[in-house]
Amino acid sequence: MADYVVLASGSGSNFEAIATSCCLSGHRLLAVISDRREAPVLRRAERLGVPSLIVSYEAGRDRAESRLLDALAKLEPDLIVLAGFMKILPSRIVERFRGHILNIHPALLPGFPGRNAIKRAYAEPGAAMGITVHFVDEGVDTGPVLARVEADRSGDPGLEEMEARIHALEHHHYPRLIAEQLDAIERATER
Ligand code: GRF
Repeated sequence: MADYVVLASGSGSNFEAIATSCCLSGHRLLAVISDRREAPVLRRAERLGVPSLIVSYEAGRDRAESRLLDALAKLEPDLIVLAGFMKILPSRIVERFRGHILNIHPALLPGFPGRNAIKRAYAEPGAAMGITVHFVDEGVDTGPVLARVEADRSGDPGLEEMEARIHALEHHHYPRLIAEQLDAIERATER
């Protein structure tokens, strides 16, 4: 068994896919951490019985980042999973957990990094769309890629339909890739 935490700022549909995935049932989800008190992900966590923690950025970024680092240091997760976490992790957190932080991005990196990636990719006729799961480094959506999965853009789908296709891919692949990482960590610690 390996331990992980999820960091999320928004709706939390990926968090829910992760928390309910059978491929992750052999591992321990320690907590979900959010920077937003009103984030719907916190209601999902409550419903699913997952402990949650709020690290508010209202009193300043520096203080929040220290609190986040303290919380992570206390939890000692084997893996930190970003799932729609809208803050950039500071280098002191990246350094401490390097190689143990995963992020999911709703575009085929290195194309369309940053915000509104689905909209921006959709606006380019014929641009390949999809998802990327990557390790986090100090940049924005720049770390080593673990997997890319292209979405089906056929049939002249509208933006909403494309968003649904991308999210379906995320919910299918992210839990599986997280489980693979945790399984590998578990095997490595058994040796
Ligand atoms: C996902 O599209 C993910 O790729 C991006 O943020 C979104 C989070 O959605 N990083 P949700 O909160 O998991 O529903």
